[in-house]
Amino acid sequence: MTDAMVRLDAVNRVFRMGDVSVPVLHDVTLDVGSGECVAVVGPSGSGKSSLMNLVGLLDRPTSGRILVEGVDTGRLSPDRCAVLRNRRIGFVFQSYNLLGRHSALDNVQLPLLYAKVGRVERRRRAEAALESVGLAHRADHLPSRLSGGEQQRVAIARALVTDPGIVLADEPTGALDSNTGTEILALFRNLNRAGRTLLIITHDLGVAARCGRIVRLHDGRIASDQANTAPGLVRVPA
Ligand SMILES: Nc1ncnc2c1ncn2[C@@H]1O[C@H](COP(=O)(O)OP(=O)(O)O)[C@@H](O)[C@H]1O
Ligand SMILES: [Mg+2]
Repeated sequence: MTDAMVRLDAVNRVFRMGDVSVPVLHDVTLDVGSGECVAVVGPSGSGKSSLMNLVGLLDRPTSGRILVEGVDTGRLSPDRCAVLRNRRIGFVFQSYNLLGRHSALDNVQLPLLYAKVGRVERRRRAEAALESVGLAHRADHLPSRLSGGEQQRVAIARALVTDPGIVLADEPTGALDSNTGTEILALFRNLNRAGRTLLIITHDLGVAARCGRIVRLHDGRIASDQANTAPGLVRVPA
């Protein structure tokens, strides 16, 4: 076992396109400790999303190991991997990825449905998650009736509802105006203060500046990995 929430050990990812091999990640070694807020930055095409897909167990490395809470995920069957992903990893995407025909509350309940949590408990936990992102009053709304920032809050509630060990966010403010983006970052920061482990993928250095550690990817390699000694202090308005 290990203290790391997530550990990547000499991870390589090569995509195959017909006869052509496209190496996308090279020898990536990275530990994310419990309670950290880590930004992964790098230009478009540097491999950030590919890295997130690997850490999130949506993809498998070509070589190297990925451990989640000490479990070597390469040894797990696809079904076991899916269970680990569902229970221990929360996802937030740039485009929110909410189901348009379902209310905010139903969207938030979805991971609990996959986890076979009973109906009453599901509802209770989804309401609490919506409350924690300040959206209890929007529970019955369809995504199309919510602003972008509200939709992203619903997505964050959905990521939190299983009480995951780590939340992965890929460009979570990329589709938002700057004020709304700042609010979402403040929400992440409050989650991290409350002990939540976060991995935030972004090409925006202003976003990274609010994280406690900044990992830079360049052409699929880690170019630097530094503590950020003065992460910006932003608070969610009460
Ligand atoms: N499924 C795939 N098949 C082939 N190439 C891919 C695939 N996914 C990503 N890539 C390539 O990998 C590189 C990194 O992509 P990505 O991880 O999306 O970068 P980023 O998120 O930093 O913009 C790009 O050159 C992209 O074209
Ligand atoms: Mg990307």
